[in-house]
Amino acid sequence: MSHTDRPHASTDRTLLTHHAYRHAQPLTARQRLYDFQRPRYDLPGLVLRHLDHPHGTWADVGCGTGLYLDRIRSERPQAHVLGLDLSASLLAALEGARVCADAALLPLRTGSVDVVLAMHMLYHLNDPDRALAEAARVLKPVGSLVVSTNSRHDKQELDELWARAAARVLGEEQGPRRVKLSARFAAEDAARTIGRHFEQVSVIDLDGVIEVDSPEPVLAHYASYRAWSHETGVPFEQTLNRVEDDLRVLLEEGPLAITTRQALIFAHRPRHDREAPAP
Ligand SMILES: C[S@@+](CC[C@H](N)C(=O)[O-])C[C@H]1O[C@@H](n2cnc3c(N)ncnc32)[C@H](O)[C@@H]1O
Repeated sequence: MSHTDRPHASTDRTLLTHHAYRHAQPLTARQRLYDFQRPRYDLPGLVLRHLDHPHGTWADVGCGTGLYLDRIRSERPQAHVLGLDLSASLLAALEGARVCADAALLPLRTGSVDVVLAMHMLYHLNDPDRALAEAARVLKPVGSLVVSTNSRHDKQELDELWARAAARVLGEEQGPRRVKLSARFAAEDAARTIGRHFEQVSVIDLDGVIEVDSPEPVLAHYASYRAWSHETGVPFEQTLNRVEDDLRVLLEEGPLAITTRQALIFAHRPRHDREAPAP
């Protein structure tokens, strides 16, 4: 099997719930790298600015550590806000209404929800179409879906740094690519896929640059993929150490710039399953 042609460990539910998202720490470390991003995008704020629904029902599917739940509850105090996630342990640390559920089978009535969020999570599904059809099913005809994900070219500098270190660890000319979760539901394809389930789709590209002058936040970001270390095709800790050495040398010359490419996608007018065009 080639390095680029592995099965989808990013959708393995046991791995997701027992390792990757058993505790908040890896996800929080991964997201902390964005503290160094310019412009700094306030994703929950952008979602709220683009949607009205002051009294409505919001369902945050794959709510993780509750980043969006807290903001929606504080800025839309009259809304009913429900967090849903596959990880019972992440949910246990949250407050307010929440339920352990799979995005592909939502425990919600048809046509009962005003806003569904699926933020940086559809790439964890074997079949994102199923989750999108579920979102369309539970939404009211005037309801909205919000999705976020990354471009295939997001943080390309980190891909190159990892591949170089991995090549040296393996003694090969070219190292395997690092695990890139969003590649399975990349920003480049998102609008087309979502368009199979919603009549109106608009995309906001959020490009930026992360600039770091110390290795720690970058190493913590790489380390947050440890749950998938067996998928990297290279001894993970050894590669991480090699990356650290390389980073220290690079940073002697000045800060490291990492290009970020994300997208925020708004979808309206859910199609009924029977209306959805074939993939
Ligand atoms: C990268 S985190 C994103 C968390 C949050 N949406 C955010 O943007 O901060 C992905 C989340 O999706 C959850 N998840 C993965 N597969 C899921 C599924 N099939 N159904 C519901 N949640 C899922 C994970 O447990 C994790 O909390």
